[in-house]
Amino acid sequence: MDSFSSLIRTASHEQHVAAETSTFMSDLLGGRLGVAAYARYTEQLWFVYEALESTAERLAADPVAGPFVRPELFRLPALERDLAHLRGPGWRAGLSALPATRAYADRVRECAERWPGGYVAHHYTRYLGDLSGGQIIRDRAEKTWGFARKGDGVRFYVFDAIPNPAAFKRDYRELLDRIGVDDLEKQRVVSECKRAFALNTAVFGALGEEFPLSA
Ligand code: HEM
Repeated sequence: MDSFSSLIRTASHEQHVAAETSTFMSDLLGGRLGVAAYARYTEQLWFVYEALESTAERLAADPVAGPFVRPELFRLPALERDLAHLRGPGWRAGLSALPATRAYADRVRECAERWPGGYVAHHYTRYLGDLSGGQIIRDRAEKTWGFARKGDGVRFYVFDAIPNPAAFKRDYRELLDRIGVDDLEKQRVVSECKRAFALNTAVFGALGEEFPLSA
């Protein structure tokens, strides 16, 4: 049987393509959106990472999810700096989640509270993606809206505490391969990973509706 890390990667491949080629992402990567759309997207990420990270400490001792909880991944402080840059000092008072974002964050929290394997699925879907395609998004954002390289506005994509992302991802995949659950539970985690991608795509869909291109 394939390793769990390849299983989870292969199983979500199609949805990865769907997320990558969603109208909102294509417009964002194509430099066709204004900075308000980027700020709105960044704001949505805040809700997702708040759900992932405010629950992380409690999961750190969990035998299944615990090994994945690594402070060097934490994104919330970086997101907050980006939002202060994008929206100004009052950013927190103006935070609002799209219904699709609320559904996504609620699901993450539900897994964090009741199902460590499900939390791992969400953890993988976000952080491994951020370490990979996130770098492409950062590059486009810097060019499109003129943020300083790796500076305020794109700090979310900068993992200061991970100097070698390729090595980190390799270690992460090894952690996945050693996950202490049986095959049935692995299948459930794979299903949750697909759900995580679908939740992301739904957020892109909602953002695409909010920021349709006039052209
Ligand atoms: C425009 C958007 C995106 C681009 C350009 C992109 C690009 C990439 C690239 C190039 C990789 C390969 C990295 C490698 O082989 O090490 C990757 C991996 C990954 N991406 Fe994306 N991605 C995008 C959006 C997303 C989204 C929205 C998600 C989910 C929230 C996501 C989740 C992942 C995951 C989990 C991996 C790791 C796969 C693995 O090695 O197991 N990506 N992405």
